[in-house]
Amino acid sequence: MIRIKGKTGLITGGTKGIGLGIAEALLSEGVNVAITSRSLSKAEETAKQLNAKFDQAKAIGIKADVRNFQEQKEAVQQTLEKFDQLDYVIANAGLGHFAPISELTEEQWKETIDTNLSGVFYSAKASVEALSKTKGYFISISSLAGCNFFAGGAAYNASKFGVTGFTQAMMLDVRDKGIKVSTIMPGSVSTHFNGNNPNVNEDQEAWKIQIEDLGEIVVNLFKMHPRTLPSKIEVRPAQTKK
Ligand SMILES: NC(=O)c1ccc[n+]([C@@H]2O[C@H](COP(=O)([O-])OP(=O)(O)OC[C@H]3O[C@@H](n4cnc5c(N)ncnc54)[C@H](OP(=O)(O)O)[C@@H]3O)[C@@H](O)[C@H]2O)c1
Repeated sequence: MIRIKGKTGLITGGTKGIGLGIAEALLSEGVNVAITSRSLSKAEETAKQLNAKFDQAKAIGIKADVRNFQEQKEAVQQTLEKFDQLDYVIANAGLGHFAPISELTEEQWKETIDTNLSGVFYSAKASVEALSKTKGYFISISSLAGCNFFAGGAAYNASKFGVTGFTQAMMLDVRDKGIKVSTIMPGSVSTHFNGNNPNVNEDQEAWKIQIEDLGEIVVNLFKMHPRTLPSKIEVRPAQTKK
């Protein structure tokens, strides 16, 4: 099994939800993390809380909107300046607008595609050179909505089908350069996604995948033998809602 202590990861959208769960799992394994947010104060506050909780490694917070390629390049640069190397990138930042085509607005369409799909491309493009130096690992957080479509999901399905396809094609581009690439496709996860409050009613949230479960999956992928690559991973609640 690979040792991951002392390595460095960059997580887009690490202030809450899945990104935060992955940050906590990596820090507990001794991996330094840079987390991004659209807000500098939120990124820095979250990093402060993480550093108070974990002393095995260090967290920093960076303002970088994934819709902005320049900010993604600067996020990679800041991570390299702080930690000297970049081993892991988790392109996680995302949101959802759900409405039938008659009600879906152009603004909702653009925000969904710009964040969920172009954001993953910018994160990959900005980091692939640094990852080639460390023979690192790039993970995108797609969704089960990236292979199953549903009414009201036109924008979200389009973005996540896109992420699934983009990530698999990128995997083929870089696998022989020693960079690993996977996409994780979760079902329902207990987060703040789409206005959900994961803390409001624990009973209602208990059936869902928890953020620490995705953190564990990511850690296990990073520890896997270099010869083997689980490239597309569907993750669902073991039981449906009661
Ligand atoms: N929850 C689920 O059931 C589920 C299932 C499958 C897939 N996913 C996917 O998982 C990913 C994370 O979602 P989540 O459930 O953890 O949602 P969440 O709790 O709402 O967290 C979303 C994170 O993304 C960040 N973010 C949003 N837009 C951003 C932007 N333009 N630039 C940078 N950061 C941005 C937010 O940070 P700030 O607000 O601080 O900017 C926040 O940290 C998304 O890609 C989502 O599609 C979620």
